[in-house]
This record gives sequence, C-alpha cells and structure tokens, in this order.
Amino acid sequence: MTLLLKSLPARAEVWSRVFAEAGLPIETDPEAIADPAEISVLACWQPPEDLSIYPNLKAVLSVGAGVDQMPELPPQIMLCRSLAPGIEMLVRDWAVMACLMLHRDIPSYMAQAEKGVWQGLPVTLSSQRRVGILGMGRIGKLLAQSLVDLGFPVRGWSRSGRPVDGVEVFGQDGLDRVLVQSDILICLLPLTDETRGILNADLFAALPKGAHLVHAGRGAQLDMADMRAALDSGQLASAMLDVTNPEPLPADHWAWSDPRIVITPHVAAETDAEQGALHAVAVVKALMAGETPPGVTNKAAGY
Ligand code: GLV
Repeated sequence: MTLLLKSLPARAEVWSRVFAEAGLPIETDPEAIADPAEISVLACWQPPEDLSIYPNLKAVLSVGAGVDQMPELPPQIMLCRSLAPGIEMLVRDWAVMACLMLHRDIPSYMAQAEKGVWQGLPVTLSSQRRVGILGMGRIGKLLAQSLVDLGFPVRGWSRSGRPVDGVEVFGQDGLDRVLVQSDILICLLPLTDETRGILNADLFAALPKGAHLVHAGRGAQLDMADMRAALDSGQLASAMLDVTNPEPLPADHWAWSDPRIVITPHVAAETDAEQGALHAVAVVKALMAGETPPGVTNKAAGY
C-alpha cells in the first residue's frame, strides 16, 4: 500500500522520513513510479485530472483542512482531509486575534494612526460583546472554548447542532437565532453548495446594527459588494478577512484600501509537514486494517 505525495520538495523530504520511520512506502515523484498499480493513496492539494492511471487508488487525501478544491472523485475513491492538529490551533489563533482586533476597534485606530490622531474610543467588556460562530467542527469548538475563556458569550451554528460545552449551539434551522445575537460574527464554514454566497445582504441584515465580521471560511461564501453596502449603511462596522472573493484579491481591489477592512492573504493556517505526514500514516494504516481512515469526508455533504 504505497502513498504518493504531490507537494513541494521540502515537504516531500519530511513525509519521506516520517513514512520511513513508520516502515511504510511512499513516492514523491510521479515520474519515478515503476508500477502505478501500487499507489493506494494520493496526498495532494489537487489531484491530476486523470486518476485512472492509478487503478488501485483507494483514497485521495487533501493536505489541507478543506476539500472544496477537489474535483468530483469516482465513487470507489474515498476523499479525506488532513487532521493535522496544528491546523485548528493556527486558525483558532488567527480568529481570536481578529475577534479581539474588531472588539477593540483596531481598524479605527489604524485609520487614526494614518492621520496621527490620538483619540480614544469607547470600550466594551467582552462579556457585553456577543460572538456567533458559523461552523462548529474541530476548529469552531476550539475557538469557542478560547472565546468563552476570554469572557465572550458565544453561540454556534452547525448543520448537526451537536452540543458543545459552554456554548449554545443551534442546528440548521437556528441560523437566525445565532445571527440576531452576533455582535461579532465569525465564519469558519466549509465551502459547499449550501454555504456558497451565505455571507450576503440578507445575512448581514439579520445581524445587530454595527456588527463586525470575521471570515476564515472560504472566499466564495462572501459577497464582497454586499459587505461593502453593509459597511456603508452602518449595518456592519468592520471586517477582518483571511479569505476574499475573488482570491487572490487583485492589487487594485477597493477592499485593500477600505479602512474598515483588515485583510490577510489566506494565511490563517498552514499544515505542519510533520503533523500532516503523521496523519497520512494513520490514514494508510487504517486502510491497511480495513478501517475507516481518520478525516474521511462525506462526499454528499461536501466536507
Ligand atoms: C486552508 O484553507 C486549508 O484548507 O487547509
């Protein structure tokens, strides 16, 4: 059962070492494969167009947390996503930072700093700033715990509505109940047919007036023109985005110079090479044992 990794040389080196330590075969150069029938798992961000060259492929493993970049796979091939634990910690860190930056009016202070203005703004206690998290998977849960520890009242929304300690979680029909109480709304949703374009004028209108938006889901979930209109009307006060629509954001895009918006270029997380490789080892071992591999996705749900 050989894994083929399609990645950069530096990552391939780490994966090769981790697989050697685990006593498992790995290929990191598709050109060097003697017998493509030996490849059972393909780890990549995006696979090559024609997967039929690997007749015994059992699983495609995304090296990131998301799988929306993947094409539709033949039904017999499983789709897994990386469960490298560093991913959720990095996104949690970024989202806590973004939440605190908007909570403490940093975009306004950055705009004031441009003009050399020394001027304090009113301060709000975290206990009086309600946070809503869209997406209560591994990252959402970790983030919710951190924000609860900081004193924010947190509500969450997920498809399943599965409960999480210390957080009121609402299921599919409860979106409005989360939005109406979200002074800061944080989107961590995976990109699916249901979530494409979800951050739009209707959703912004359901938030309390002057709410703040934190977006670390996927760019295609955000209608940037609707966000601009909501900022102009005061419905939204500010936004911090790690993902944009389009992405990469063109150099001359209006959002770069909008003082109400802070943008980072899709850097909230990067999969640690060693952790990613260790997870891939677990995937291969599970497949060898005939078990469900960790991180397998539900293809119908899209994540
Ligand atoms: C990054 O966005 C990822 O999916 O890991």
